[in-house]
Formats: sequence, C-alpha cells, structure tokens
Amino acid sequence: MESFEKVYEVVKSKLSEKRFYHSICVMERAIEYAEIYGVDVEQAKLVGIAHDVLKETPKEYRITEAKELGVELDDIEIKALSLIHSKTGAKFCEKRFGFSEEMCNAIKYHTTGRPNMSTLEKILYLADCTGKDRTYEEAKIGYEIAKKDLDKAMQYFLGKTIEWILEDKSIIHLDTVKAYNFFLK
Ligand SMILES: [Fe+2]
Repeated sequence: MESFEKVYEVVKSKLSEKRFYHSICVMERAIEYAEIYGVDVEQAKLVGIAHDVLKETPKEYRITEAKELGVELDDIEIKALSLIHSKTGAKFCEKRFGFSEEMCNAIKYHTTGRPNMSTLEKILYLADCTGKDRTYEEAKIGYEIAKKDLDKAMQYFLGKTIEWILEDKSIIHLDTVKAYNFFLK
C-alpha cells in the first residue's frame, strides 16, 4: 500500500483548497473515532484523507471516468452524478494506492451508507458528517452521539439525510433507504 505522504500529495493535487481542507477535517475525526472504537488508526487516516479524491471531476466527465476505471453505475447514479465519486473514488484508491477491500468499501459507501456496515465504514460516513468544517447544528449533535454510539449516530444522520434529500427534491439512493431501515432496528 502507498505511504500516507504519497496519498496526501495525490489527493491534494486533485482537490481545491476548500475540499482538501474538508478532507483534513474528515481525517481528523476518523482518527478520533478509530481511537475510541479500537479500529486501525492508519486505515482510518488514509480513508479520511482520500474519500473525496475524485469529487471534483467535472460533471460531464464522471460517467466516462467510471467506465475507464471499470466501475458499473446503477440507474440512480446515472441521474445523481454527485453519488458517482464514492464508487469511482473507491476504485481509484484500490488501483492507485492499493487500499484494502474494507478501506475501499468505506469510501464506496461514505455517501449513501448501507446495511451491515463495518466499523470502519461507519467511522468514515460519520467523520464526513461531523468534521469541524461542518458548521450546521446537526454536525455538533451528531458528533456528540458518534463519540458514544456509532449505530445511533448512523440512525440520526441517515434520517437527517433523507429529510434533506426530500426538501431538496433530489433522488434517494436505495442503499440510503436500506441503511435507514437497518439502523432503525
Ligand atoms: Fe466528504
């Protein structure tokens, strides 16, 4: 696997200053949660910094990029181009950095969530919602929950995400609905 320094350098070269700062904030939270929940800190650090590596690919190039990386898109992703970066990012990190399957899955599901997420997957999902660059109230509430109970924090943010998607009249990925039902248990 590629060193942290190299991953940091490649991610920095692909992102705007603002998005790179977001990535640093997600990495910091991922480290914090990994320490609390006994997950490999190096892995949390790497997925945190790299999770949005392809988020700034121009919209018109995203489907082509997915094809080039050998990523299959479903009909929802073809309509909701903002979801594509999770799958392409995961494949990119596998090919370019040699990330493990679990690390790639954390990146792949960091936007939608899914049922039966591993601890690393939950950590990345929640670090993305609760980094210190997130200034909305829910980020602070969710951060306090996440430090105590990852599953409760997943339930909280999946519910909020669905509310926000409905307000926005955007399309909901089925993985988000399945994850919401799963964590509601
Ligand atoms: Fe992110």
